[in-house]
Amino acid sequence: MNQTPIVKTLHWPHEDACQAYALSLSANVHLRHAQLCLHGDLGSGKTTFTRHLLQALGVSGRIKSPTYAVVESYEVERGGTPLFIWHFDFYRFKDPQEWEDAGFRDMFATPGLKICEWPYKAAGFLPQPDLEMALQVNADDSRTVTLSAHSDNGRSLLA
Ligand SMILES: Nc1ncnc2c1ncn2[C@@H]1O[C@H](COP(=O)(O)OP(=O)(O)OP(=O)(O)O)[C@@H](O)[C@H]1O
Ligand SMILES: [Mg+2]
Repeated sequence: MNQTPIVKTLHWPHEDACQAYALSLSANVHLRHAQLCLHGDLGSGKTTFTRHLLQALGVSGRIKSPTYAVVESYEVERGGTPLFIWHFDFYRFKDPQEWEDAGFRDMFATPGLKICEWPYKAAGFLPQPDLEMALQVNADDSRTVTLSAHSDNGRSLLA
């Protein structure tokens, strides 16, 4: 049985700590087939964390915020096999028809890493995440980050 706690709190005094956490998470094999949901106000660091994670996973070149396109996709080589990554930002997601038309249903059904900003804007469509990350901005501009696991895979990501 997986004994990893289901909730963990981190403190990121500066962006360096966000980058360091992204780097350590990138080494976790359970990311291969995982859904991460990122919560937090505008400017709390969801895209910044995602950029550090994608860079640590080997994505090179510019990592665009998917605010307008809703999704940006990537493919990297990890351990000799391809890893597919989808970075969603549902801030502007409104039309349920888009879920089918844009192929989001198929993306969530395909093995790979899915990272979602503003997941509650697509509530009712999104499957249960493996790991939720809530970013809170403190008065000193540091971040308090609460990680919650919702599956065995999510617990393994917290280990
Ligand atoms: N500890 C920290 N962790 C992450 N980002 C930080 C931290 N401290 C400062 N920042 C800064 O906060 C900003 C976060 O912006 P970012 O675009 O990542 O936010 P976001 O949560 O994706 O916002 P949006 O909801 O608009 O998409 C960046 O400029 C980043 O450099
Ligand atoms: Mg963002």
